[in-house]
Amino acid sequence: MKKKTTKTHNYPSQHATILDWIRFLALRLADANLSFENGMQNPYHEAEYLTAFAFSIPMQSLDSSLNTRPPPHARELMEKILDQRIRQRLPAAYITQEAFFAGHRFRVDPRVLIPRSRIENLFDDANGFADLVSLPDTPVLLDLCTGSGCLAIALALAFPRATLHASDYSSQALEVARINVDQFALAHRVSLFEADLFAGLPPIRYDMIVTNPPYVSKATLENLPREYLHEPALALGGGETGLDLVGRILRQAKDFLTPEGVLICEVGDEGEETLMNLWPDFPGEWIYFHFGGSGVFTLEPSCIPEKIML
Ligand SMILES: C[S@@+](CC[C@H](N)C(=O)[O-])C[C@H]1O[C@@H](n2cnc3c(N)ncnc32)[C@H](O)[C@@H]1O
Repeated sequence: MKKKTTKTHNYPSQHATILDWIRFLALRLADANLSFENGMQNPYHEAEYLTAFAFSIPMQSLDSSLNTRPPPHARELMEKILDQRIRQRLPAAYITQEAFFAGHRFRVDPRVLIPRSRIENLFDDANGFADLVSLPDTPVLLDLCTGSGCLAIALALAFPRATLHASDYSSQALEVARINVDQFALAHRVSLFEADLFAGLPPIRYDMIVTNPPYVSKATLENLPREYLHEPALALGGGETGLDLVGRILRQAKDFLTPEGVLICEVGDEGEETLMNLWPDFPGEWIYFHFGGSGVFTLEPSCIPEKIML
């Protein structure tokens, strides 16, 4: 009988270079059955990112450092990364406490979802939003369910004359959003509200409401990889079908939008399918992204019917 072998991937020697350490980490990550979905998408990229972090090398200097030696206590630093990423299954962003969204760097930790909203694609091209809504000169915009504040802050940076309101039910998430708002020196334009969807917001109408609410169905939630369990449960679960909060948003959005305003709401692929099954003549428009999918709809207030089928 063929003997079963276990791959050990010995630690690099004391003469090893940064590149040797990246390769070592990439092999360990690849063998560990991890999920890279809320991280760098593949083991090699994540190994580069985490090695740079562990050895305090700025990412932009990594390429030029590949043939240099790591710090003397490299093994100890790498053992910590292996413990966090493989044993604890912490997503890379929670190890480094940073995530990139729409080209900006945000502080993140387990109080907030790791930013990955598909709405980010609308920032790729400055006209991404202009195609969807005609905004006044000094628009007032709402980011409902703001988490880290990434969407509100990216919007404030993309629309320098806009005022932003950003809200979340979680006071802990808002603590992180506050750190990010202050980091971008945007406190004069981005206001944070602790609110249960619209309850707790000022009674005004917005020119655009952008939201990436929790929309994972109960069945999907039960089978998520362990990495996702480090993210706040409140940021993921959207009830049995995943669309509980989306239904609530649709019931109230009309009262919080200007007549020319628009709601941009993410529901993901599963959410889109469920929504279209529950509501075949759903009046929203699905945005088609360059990767071929959608999962994000827009809806004008005049198109929101009295009866919401969710
Ligand atoms: C999917 S996360 C999105 C976070 C952020 N906008 C992003 O795209 O990374 C959803 C957020 O909704 C918040 N949330 C959950 N229920 C809420 C409610 N009833 N009212 C307001 N926010 C809520 C969660 O705390 C979480 O921060």
